[in-house]
Amino acid sequence: MSIATPFPDFFGRLTTVRSQHEHLGVTLRCLDSTCDALEIGRTSLPVEFRPKVLLTALRHDLGEHFDAEESDGHFGTIAKEEPRLLPGIVDLKGDHAAMLDAIDGLLLVASDESRWLELVVPVRRLIRALKAHERAEALLLQEYFGRGEVSLRAAGS
Ligand SMILES: [Fe+2]
Ligand SMILES: [Fe+2]
Repeated sequence: MSIATPFPDFFGRLTTVRSQHEHLGVTLRCLDSTCDALEIGRTSLPVEFRPKVLLTALRHDLGEHFDAEESDGHFGTIAKEEPRLLPGIVDLKGDHAAMLDAIDGLLLVASDESRWLELVVPVRRLIRALKAHERAEALLLQEYFGRGEVSLRAAGS
C-alpha cells in the first residue's frame, strides 16, 4: 500500500472514534442517572456515580476522543480530501474546546458536595450539546462518504 493512500489509517481511526462514541454514551447515561438522583435530593451516591468521578472520567475520555478526531488521520484526512467540509470541521473543533472548558468549570462545582444540585442543569445541557455534536459529526461523515458514492456513480461503477 502506498504511503500516499490515507485510507487504511483513516478507517482504523474511524473504528477507534466509533468505539469511543459508544464508551462515551455509557458515561453520559451514568451522568444522567446522577442528575436524576440529585434532582430528588439524593446525595449519598455510589462512588462510581459521584459527579466528580464521572466528570473526571468524561474529561479524560473526551480529551482522548477529541485528540483522535482532530488528528491528521481523521479530520485532517477529511479536510484534505474534501476541502468544502473544512468549515464544518472548524465548528466541530470549536465545540471540542467549549465542551472541555465547560467540564473544567463543572469539576470545580463538583468538588463541593454542598453545590451538587447546581450541576443538574449545566450537566444536562452538556449532555445535549455532546449528542448534538456527535450528530453533526455523523452528518459530516455521511457527506464525506456520500462524495465517494457520487464519484463512483459518475465513473459508472
Ligand atoms: Fe467531536
Ligand atoms: Fe465524536
